[in-house]
Amino acid sequence: MTPPILRTLPALRAATSDWQKAGETIGVVPTMGALHDGHLSLVKLAKEHCDRVIVTIFVNPKQFNNPDDLKNYPRTEEDDARKLARFGIDVLYVPEPDQIYPQGFSTTVSVSGLTDVMDGVMRPGHFDGVATVVSKLFLQTSASDAFFGEKDFQQLQVVRRMARDLDIPITVHGCPTIREIDGLAMSSRNLLLSDRARVNAPMLFEEMEGIAAGVGSGQDFAQLQEQAVQRLQNAGFTKVEYLEIRANDDLSLLSTPTRPARLFASAWLAGVRMIDNIAI
Ligand code: PAF
Repeated sequence: MTPPILRTLPALRAATSDWQKAGETIGVVPTMGALHDGHLSLVKLAKEHCDRVIVTIFVNPKQFNNPDDLKNYPRTEEDDARKLARFGIDVLYVPEPDQIYPQGFSTTVSVSGLTDVMDGVMRPGHFDGVATVVSKLFLQTSASDAFFGEKDFQQLQVVRRMARDLDIPITVHGCPTIREIDGLAMSSRNLLLSDRARVNAPMLFEEMEGIAAGVGSGQDFAQLQEQAVQRLQNAGFTKVEYLEIRANDDLSLLSTPTRPARLFASAWLAGVRMIDNIAI
């Protein structure tokens, strides 16, 4: 059965207050819809961990720094509800825009430091939009646990810091990236790739794996990076925005992984911006 859809905060609060009175744990999986197996893996984990599960779908205008990107973002609510049917979640929360940003809304949640690099630079204002909407969703759902994919690792760290700094009583779980059979990280934006671009898209992950293996066997990262960028450009990636090693905890730039770190990449292919990261 497709899950009950709630579109207003009072309706959501009516449901969650009963659960809270009964001492039940509440898991939330925040999404912008166009659900794929990556999202569904988060839902599965939430179901395993929590008594109650809420999935949210809200295409958050405040986190898009490009109006065309917002306009083109896939919206597939009926399909999404169908995909969730087999998980037995308690509520699909699809708030009307004014339930998140009522008339006169004038607050921004901004996390500094972690957002001064990578997507924080490439997409000005993006993480303010994410931190603002996620803090609202945490407070509106009264969730005890939240589930985010490591695919957006920088987002995950920003959300963790925001929850910690604001004393929001929630545990933020980071969950492994789910990949297509050819290695491409699952993303709602993959729907925007042309057939031709889809064939070349996994190359980003292949190059990243090559770099990780090279660094693991003692090769020079700068050289591996330069060669990978060249090959990606030859294959039609128009812009490699970053391909760099950063520390897991504070995302500081490293020339070699001397502490727990990840290799982060962002590149454009046929008008679609792709991001990925792997442990290194
Ligand atoms: O990762 C996403 O889909 C969005 O950034 C999120 C966390 C749902 C906030 O709008």
